[in-house]
Amino acid sequence: MAGGIRHFLQFADFDRSELEWVFDRSRIIKDRFKRYEFYQPLADRTLAMVFEKASTRTRVSFEAGMYQMGGSVIHITTGDSQLGRAEPIEDTARVISRMVDIVMIRTYEQAKLERFADHSRVPVMNGLTNEYHPCQILADIFTFIEHRGSIAGRTVAWIGDANNMAYTWLQAAHKLGFQLNISTPPGYVLDTARCTIGPHLRVFADPIEAARDAHLVTTDVWTSMGYEAENEIRMKAFADWQVDAEMMQAAQHDAIFMHCLPAHRGEEVSADVIDGNQSAVWDEAENRLHVQKALMEYLLLGKNVS
Ligand code: CP
Ligand code: NVA
Repeated sequence: MAGGIRHFLQFADFDRSELEWVFDRSRIIKDRFKRYEFYQPLADRTLAMVFEKASTRTRVSFEAGMYQMGGSVIHITTGDSQLGRAEPIEDTARVISRMVDIVMIRTYEQAKLERFADHSRVPVMNGLTNEYHPCQILADIFTFIEHRGSIAGRTVAWIGDANNMAYTWLQAAHKLGFQLNISTPPGYVLDTARCTIGPHLRVFADPIEAARDAHLVTTDVWTSMGYEAENEIRMKAFADWQVDAEMMQAAQHDAIFMHCLPAHRGEEVSADVIDGNQSAVWDEAENRLHVQKALMEYLLLGKNVS
């Protein structure tokens, strides 16, 4: 890997060839894991995970992944650390990064993650911010590749909120050359200051039109973490943006459905879709483990791997 410390703060931090490397390594690492092959290239390395929001998948996948690769993990939260007592994020970064080899952070503003990275001596990974969720999109695209081959030239339909997942999909569409169709309710549209409508992004008022002929249909909760006060009003505004059987019918006949989870059946997705035979959500969740092992391997060892 060329020069300096690399971070993974947003999907656009990696170029296309690096992303392809991570996907290729994910395949190798997953296959070895399934064969119970010993592979511990991160022996003696330590991961610190900092959570300012709740998590199931992100915590378990990073923690299990680091142990499986031979390393150790330290888990801290706002409530049980000095972060909750207003120690500056810059000082926290300076201290933690003198003690561990790599850091994952789940927090609110992307700017806070960037301030941490600016003061870190070691690689920092985004475990979700209000703006982006790049580790999730690594898993989603790896899952698409496993099920359907290359995502380049395909169409992904995003139905629902213009949230951290939507903006990360948009970065991925630009990097990897696929088309993203987005439909959000009025009042919850994409911020045009953060994106350009162009060949990789098409915006639809009608969610069924966004889903039409898509190879992948995906959605997420209507109320993301940090926006709970808006929940009641969002339930009404998003009512017509549920991914249901009719919407899947508009997509390609072999389209797959994804959701980063946790899901709310009967809200953003109907039970028959998420539990149906087009759903890839359990593979998608499992793949968090494999892609993040490949990500940590790349950030710590570059291409110097076996
Ligand atoms: N998808 C995801 O990031 O899940 P958690 O919030 O459980 O980590
Ligand atoms: N958009 C959701 C994703 C949860 C994994 C949130 O930020 O809460």
